[in-house]
Amino acid sequence: MKAVLGADHAGCVLKNAAKQYLIQKQIEVLDLGTDSDKEPVDYPDIGIKAAKMVANGECDRGILSCGTGIGMSIAANKVRGAYAALCTNTYMAKMSRLHNNANILVLGGRVMNIDEALQIIDVWLETPFKGGRHARRIEKIKAYEDKVFLSNINNSNGRVVIIDHPLVQHKLGIIRNAQTSVKEFRELVEEIAGLMVYEITRHLPVEKIEVETPLAKAHAKTIAGKKLAVIPLLRAGLGMIQGILKLIPNAKVGHIGVYRDAVTLQPVEYYCKLPGDIEERDIFIVDPMLATGGSSTLAIDLIKRRGGKKITLVCLLAAPEGLKRVQDTHPDVDIYMAALDDHLDEHGYIVPGLGDAGDRLFGTK
Ligand code: RB5
Repeated sequence: MKAVLGADHAGCVLKNAAKQYLIQKQIEVLDLGTDSDKEPVDYPDIGIKAAKMVANGECDRGILSCGTGIGMSIAANKVRGAYAALCTNTYMAKMSRLHNNANILVLGGRVMNIDEALQIIDVWLETPFKGGRHARRIEKIKAYEDKVFLSNINNSNGRVVIIDHPLVQHKLGIIRNAQTSVKEFRELVEEIAGLMVYEITRHLPVEKIEVETPLAKAHAKTIAGKKLAVIPLLRAGLGMIQGILKLIPNAKVGHIGVYRDAVTLQPVEYYCKLPGDIEERDIFIVDPMLATGGSSTLAIDLIKRRGGKKITLVCLLAAPEGLKRVQDTHPDVDIYMAALDDHLDEHGYIVPGLGDAGDRLFGTK
């Protein structure tokens, strides 16, 4: 376990004691300061920095302190993915883990002595999250965070939609599991893609028609135009194709292949074959993982250069970084996903994610 510690001047003595204690317990510690109880500093500077490190996975837990603990908790809880609990006794510490799954403990250097603080830390570190109904409540907080996050970055005309249908979420949970077999993974990716069709086609224009039922004439609707194209990004996008085509079997299929240059780390096109009349079609680019956004952005470029206009990007998981990149570059594109994950790791993998979708689909690792 790696813990980040931070304090202002009023919490610094407590922080230093906590640091020694954690080191004794063989816990790796990252100390963001401050180291003087005389020189005043502003708690938000340290609290927000520490909270970001916990939220993005650089550290597993955080322990923050200021005079009362109040300022630090307010500051840390502004960070998406940081769940900071101000605890003044061991019962609160226990419950903040059991029920709230708090990833940051906040203590007040002026409202408790060092012994009390160390006992609180002990309980907090040792207590697991209970899950069950408490997980549901935390999911509600996360869903609200996602909503706020999306409305803040969404400066585009395009829609950004998280498909939170229970069936999609249930199946997504299974494919996230590292133990899920290649066979099951492949089947589920196809099924999720199929379920997503319901949402991604919601805005297709329809026109009124009349049909003869066995009994009488009826007014009905048909999809106007019907010119659709589905374009998987090679290779993982292939896993979503059959699920989509089952529901929109007349769609034409294009393919785009992009690799990442080992030196420049930039995406480079190696294959692009699109339906000839791409400019007339509603286009769905499919790629299970919107990670850095490099491949998707290039794919959208390629399609636009060939005349494509109405473009939707469909993925299973997105990282905030990739979502922002696509939105900044192509604000007109609609983006649909089954979940918005926390962040990218140093290798560009989505965390928590599901690993490498291509490898898991094709069993290549
Ligand atoms: C600093 O005097 C004090 O305001 C701060 O440490 C903290 O208690 C704020 O909530």
